[in-house]
Amino acid sequence: MELIKSKTYLNLAKAYAGECMARTRYEMIEYGARQQGYTFLAELIDEIAYNEFNHARMLYSFIQTAKTGKIDNIDICSGYPFREKWDLVENLRLAAEDEEDEATRIYPMYAKIAYEEGFKDIGGLFENLSSVETCHSKRLKSLHEQFSKGTAYKKEKSVKWKCSACGYEADGKEAFAVCPLCQAKQGVVQLQEE
Ligand SMILES: [Fe+2]
Ligand SMILES: [Fe+2]
Repeated sequence: MELIKSKTYLNLAKAYAGECMARTRYEMIEYGARQQGYTFLAELIDEIAYNEFNHARMLYSFIQTAKTGKIDNIDICSGYPFREKWDLVENLRLAAEDEEDEATRIYPMYAKIAYEEGFKDIGGLFENLSSVETCHSKRLKSLHEQFSKGTAYKKEKSVKWKCSACGYEADGKEAFAVCPLCQAKQGVVQLQEE
């Protein structure tokens, strides 16, 4: 089967659109985190956003293999989440859910279709994407839990806290409010990812 005439071709375009949107949603979450002084959380979110960019890049590259000339336009019809508003903690929860949907429903379905249509490499790409989105979902769930329960910088047992700005470390149940070395605020302290 020719890729350009396949369902997989459209699925690549749908997934590309989804990854671009996911990246933008993360940039918005990152923006909110920075505004509230959660610099380290913003860095983590930025890392996930960059992952989504690279997912989009790979999907785009496969789309380009469908034709030697220019691809002017691809018409797609698909649904995407638009639930996030300007609530940082709630957005972490919604992002975790969106990731889970991609990981457990959308990408496995696209992988199955790709294999059925004989596109082994693209099937593999969708499987690999699915496994990364599973990790994203887990990380976001953990971050949501910590920020919703107020345990991000306060633990039951003593842990090691590290300033991501200057590298200063201290043990304690609670992260230092201001870094004794560089005076950075608590939001720069590295989060413990459970
Ligand atoms: Fe992704
Ligand atoms: Fe993701």
